[in-house]
Amino acid sequence: MNPTVSDIKSPASVSRLRCIQCGKVTDRADQDFRCPNCGDLFEVFYPGWHADGSTTTGQPPDTLKQLWRDRKTSLAPADTSGVWRFRELLPQLQPGHEPITLREGNTPLYELPRCARPAGIEFLQAKHQGMNPTASFKDTGMTTAASFARQEGFRWVACASTGNTSASMAAYAARGGMRSLVLIPEGKISWGKLSQSLDYGAVTCQLRTDFDGCVRVLNELVKRKPIYLLNSVNPYRIEGQKTAAIELMEQLSWQPPDHIVVPGGNLGNSSALGKALIEMRDLGLIPRLPKLSVIQAEGANPFFRSIYEHSGKKLIPMEAETLATAIRIGNPASWKKALRVVETTGGAVQQVNEVEMALAKAEIGSDGVGCEPASAVTLAGLKKLVKQGFVRPNESVVLILTGHVLKDPEFTLKFHRGDLFTGTPHEKDALVLAKQQRAPLVLDATVEAVVKAVEQFESESTQ
Ligand code: F0G
Repeated sequence: MNPTVSDIKSPASVSRLRCIQCGKVTDRADQDFRCPNCGDLFEVFYPGWHADGSTTTGQPPDTLKQLWRDRKTSLAPADTSGVWRFRELLPQLQPGHEPITLREGNTPLYELPRCARPAGIEFLQAKHQGMNPTASFKDTGMTTAASFARQEGFRWVACASTGNTSASMAAYAARGGMRSLVLIPEGKISWGKLSQSLDYGAVTCQLRTDFDGCVRVLNELVKRKPIYLLNSVNPYRIEGQKTAAIELMEQLSWQPPDHIVVPGGNLGNSSALGKALIEMRDLGLIPRLPKLSVIQAEGANPFFRSIYEHSGKKLIPMEAETLATAIRIGNPASWKKALRVVETTGGAVQQVNEVEMALAKAEIGSDGVGCEPASAVTLAGLKKLVKQGFVRPNESVVLILTGHVLKDPEFTLKFHRGDLFTGTPHEKDALVLAKQQRAPLVLDATVEAVVKAVEQFESESTQ
C-alpha cells in the first residue's frame, strides 16, 4: 500500500549545522549565523542520511516520491505547502510547533517557445518562482526560517534586503505573530516591494547606503538585540529554498534537464538549488546532476570576477550598480556555497549587460510569462552560454524566474516608453530595443482612432 500522510516519522529530518569552512558542528548557531571559530557560514546537514554508511533518508526514493505525490490530495496546511510537502528533506520542527505557511511553492513550469528561438535552442522552460504568495522565490525559504524563529521564541525578526526578502519576511512574520524589522537601501528598491513590507506591517527603515551597507548594520544589530536574522546566511532559509529544485524535478518526472540557469545576487538561491540537486542525486531521487549556471549583471558581478580573475579563490567586494535592483549586491554572502555548486554540477558563471537584460525581459514577456528584471538575466545569460557552445541547441534548459513582473512596473513602463536608458552610458546600445517597445497609445475616444491604431500595428509587424 502507498504510504499516507500520517505515516510521516522520517529519520531524515534530524538535522544539525556544520560550518562550510572549518567543519564545526553545532545544533544552535549564534544570532549572526556565523561560525564562532572561523566566521564562515553554516549549512544544515542530516546525520541520519549516512548512519549506515550509505546515503538514505530511511525510505526508498520511490516511496518518498509516492508520499509527496499523495500529499497533493491532502488538505492539511503542511501538505498544501509546496515546501513542507517535501519535509523529509527539511529540518524538522519540534512537536507542538506548526509551520508558518502561506501555501508557498507549487509554482508553475512554463514552456517558452518564443524565447527559445533567440536563445538558439530547441526547447526552453522556466520555473516561475515569482508565482509565490509574495511574488518572489523568497517565500520558500521564509516559511522554514520564520517557523524556526517562532519555535525559538523570538518576538522580532529582521533582514537587510533589496526588496523581495523584506516583502516575504514581513508577510511571514505577520502570519506568525512576530514583529519584523526591514533594512533597505534608500531609493534603491522598487516601489512595489517597498509597499509590500509596509502593507504587512514591518518597521521599515530606509538606510542611506546600499544593500551591503544594510547587511553591515544588521549584523551588528543582531548581536545587541534579541532579533532573529532572516537573511540567507540563515541556513534554514536555504533549506526551504531547496524545495524549488525538488518540485522542479517532480514536474519533470524526476528526469533532470541538462541545464538550470539562475540569477546570482547574494548567491543564496543558487546555493540552495544546488544543495537540493546534490542531495537528490545522493539519495537516488535523480539519476544525474543538471549543470547549474549562475548569471550576474555586469555592474554587480563580484562572483563572475572571482571566477575569472581569481579562479574562485577569493571574492573582492565591489560597489554594485544595475537597474536590476534585486541583484544590486557587491559582497555576496553565500559565494563559497555557490562556487561549490557550480563546480560540483559543472555549471558556468556568466555576466550580461543592462541592455541584454532588458531585451531578455521583454522576450520573456512576449511568451506571456513576464518577470522582474533580475530574473531576465537568465535568458540573456543563456544566449551567451549557447554562443559559447556551453549549452548545445538540442539540450534541455530550465530558467529560474525569481520574481513577478509586477514587482517592478516602473522598469517595464520606462522600457516601453523608450526612456529606460536615457542619460545613461547605454543609450546608444539601447536602440536595438526599439522593436520590442510598445508605448501605451493616447487616442481620441473614437472607433476610427482605435481601428487606425490596430491597422498601423499590423502593417508595422508584417514589415
Ligand atoms: N532575483 C530576485 C528577484 C531577487 O530578489 C534576488 C535577491 C535574486 C534574484 C538573487 O538571489 O541573492 O539568492 O542570489 N534578492 C535579495 C533580496 C537579495 O533582498 O530580496 P540570491
